[in-house]
Parts: sequence; C-alpha cells; structure tokens
Amino acid sequence: MAFLSSRVGRAKISASASSAQRTRELRAVGRDIIGLSQGEPDFDTPEHIIEAAHRAMRDGRTRYTPVDGTPELKQAIVAKFHRENGLAYQAENISVGAGGKQILYNALMATLDPGDEVVIPAPSWVAYAIMTEFAEGVPVWVTTRSENDFKLTAGELDAAITPRTKWLMLNSPSNPTGAVYSADELRALAAVLERHPHVWVLADDIYEHILFDGRRFSTFAEVAPQLADRILIVNGVSKTYAMTGWRLGYGAGPSSLIQAMARMQAQCSLNPSSISQAAAVAALNGPQDIVAQRSAEFEARRDAVVALLEASPGLTHTRPHGAFYVYVSCADWIGRSTPAGQRLANDEDVTAYLLESGVAVPNGAGYGLSPYFRLSFATSLPTLHEACRRIEIAGASLN
Ligand SMILES: Cc1ncc(COP(=O)(O)O)c(C=O)c1O
Repeated sequence: MAFLSSRVGRAKISASASSAQRTRELRAVGRDIIGLSQGEPDFDTPEHIIEAAHRAMRDGRTRYTPVDGTPELKQAIVAKFHRENGLAYQAENISVGAGGKQILYNALMATLDPGDEVVIPAPSWVAYAIMTEFAEGVPVWVTTRSENDFKLTAGELDAAITPRTKWLMLNSPSNPTGAVYSADELRALAAVLERHPHVWVLADDIYEHILFDGRRFSTFAEVAPQLADRILIVNGVSKTYAMTGWRLGYGAGPSSLIQAMARMQAQCSLNPSSISQAAAVAALNGPQDIVAQRSAEFEARRDAVVALLEASPGLTHTRPHGAFYVYVSCADWIGRSTPAGQRLANDEDVTAYLLESGVAVPNGAGYGLSPYFRLSFATSLPTLHEACRRIEIAGASLN
C-alpha cells in the first residue's frame, strides 16, 4: 500500500511554478536567466497599506478572526462592489480567504462530486483544471480561437454543457492571454446559461484593474443580474495592490454557497491572517489613484513587448487588452532544429530551448492550448527589452 494518497498525483505542479523553480536552480549555479514566469506585479505594496498592517499588529489585532473574514473587511468588500461594480451584496454574501486561489479551492471543494464537470475555456489559468481534478471533478477544456482573441463564444459554451456541468470558469482580463470580454460578449454567454439553470459561473475578476486601450471592465453579475443566484465572483488584493505575498482574496455569491465555502476553510486553515485582513481594509477603503497609475505602467510595458515580439520572426500573438501576460504562438518554431541539433517537437521543447537561451517562460500545454508560451511583462522595461532580444536571437538561430 502506497503511503502517499492518489490525491497527490492529481495536485500537479503548474508550468509557471516549475519554470520559476528551474530559473532559481539555474541562477543558483551562476546562469544568467531572465525570469518571465511570474504572475505578480513587481511593484511594492503601497505605504499606507503597510502602515495599516503595522497599526493592526500594535493594536493587538493578532488573534483568530471569524473564519471567512472580519466584519470590517466584509464591509469594505461590500463597499468595493457597490462603488466599482454597481453590485449590492451584503456581508453574508462575502467570503475572505488566503488569496483568490483559496476562494476558488473552497468553491470547488464545496460543490464538486466525483464526475461533475467544469467548463474551462482553453487557454486558461492552470489552477482551474488542476483544482477541478483535485476535487474529483472533470475539466472540460473548450478550445477558443485566436481570431476571437481566445474568448469563449455562445456556441462553444452551449456545445460544452452536459447534464453533469456544474461550473463555467470565466476570467477577464485573462491569464494567460490578456483578453477582455465586453459587456455584450458576456450577455451572449448569459443567454446560453439562462437555458441551462444547473450551470453556475465562477467569474474570476482578479485582473479587474489592469486594463488597457481605454477598455471598460464588466463583471458577469453586473451584465447578467438575472443569474445572480448562480454567480460566484473571485477577486482579491494580490494584483490590484501588489499584495501577492499577503495572501488575501475574496469571493461574493449566494449566501448558501458562501456558508458551504466557510465550512471547507474551517477544516483547512481557519481565517486568513488578521494582519493581512487589516491591510486589505486599508487597500480597499484607501486612495485608489495608484491603481490606475500602475495599470498605465503595465500598458507601456505591453506596448513595448508586443512591438518587440512583432519584430521576432516566427512568433505571433493576439494583443493583450488587460492583465500582464502575452500568449505567444511558437507554431512556426515547431519541427525546426536548435544550433545544438535538437528538433523542437512541442512547446515544452521550445521553452526548454528558451531557457538555454536565457529566458524562462512557461509553455502553453498547462494552459490547455499548444504550441504557445506565456510571457509575463510584470517586470521592468530594460529587462523586457533584453528578454525579447534573447528570444529574437533564439528564433533567428533555428535551422
Ligand atoms: C486568473 C487568476 N485568478 C486568480 C489568481 C489568484 O491570485 P491570489 O491567490 O494571489 O489572489 C491568479 C494568480 O495568479 C490568477 O492568475
């Protein structure tokens, strides 16, 4: 009898995590590697948020809190949804966890029975499929088309739904493509879901505030209020306020689901850090000007990166309109040979070759669509220039 459970086998390590790990290993032996795997802003957490955390510690807010969030933080989240999204949630609709990732985890653990299906547009953030499998559900990848900016269409959604479907995962702006759904596109999906009352939507809004080209953010519950009783919004402070390490995310949805999610969390980790919760109150209730400033900074980096990639022969991409990733097709590199004579058979080979060339990026397979790699532009412009130069040389060196 094996000591480790079969569950461990389902908890796969994501491509971005293994790419980041490989980068650390190579750097440790002195290799010059530019890491573009990271899914986090390179900015610092704003000062007033750090101050709020200090105050919380000094004021003795160092004890257990209610499992899924302090009343103060839930009120700040309720106010955020009202102010930014025009949504009228109550505290009973709010769940706070150690990151958006824990909210997602709680939701899937609280709702999936073995064999239940989760519709995941491909490409999508790796965690959706891994967590679905972990919770004994079945990921149903639906391949989207680059001509449609990798956005799921009503027809594609309709064809993927079965009597076993429990969730549709919807992420806008998207990791890994930067695609942003318009209100009309969301309405078209809502029309399909109206015909399938057993399907819920998990609207992952974590990149809500990183938006380019004057795009307006719409969340699913705002455009489809008629579906409010089967929508769970996932959001958090990680990306908006450069607080990835604080581990603080939140969800909003029907109170019956919120209560079930709290029961999952209660048997796992109890409340997220009381200090991080106090910091999140300051983030949500405090000045918001830095959010737009940072988004503008990401937009300048996006502009630079897409211009550099366009100059790289053999690589194509769709233009990201939000988040801080570009999903690069390396289809033209497949079948070609590296200067060392290795034939590139798939996108895993491509990212291994890029690593040899000094750039770490995760390959597309984990995101559900190959042959691609994801490039994060959440790093400085000089670093991005050097990385793209190395990528271009790597491409030009192929036979
Ligand atoms: C699409 C998406 N959703 C949710 C998250 C979760 O972020 P966190 O757990 O830091 O709140 C991430 C993090 O990379 C993400 O890319």
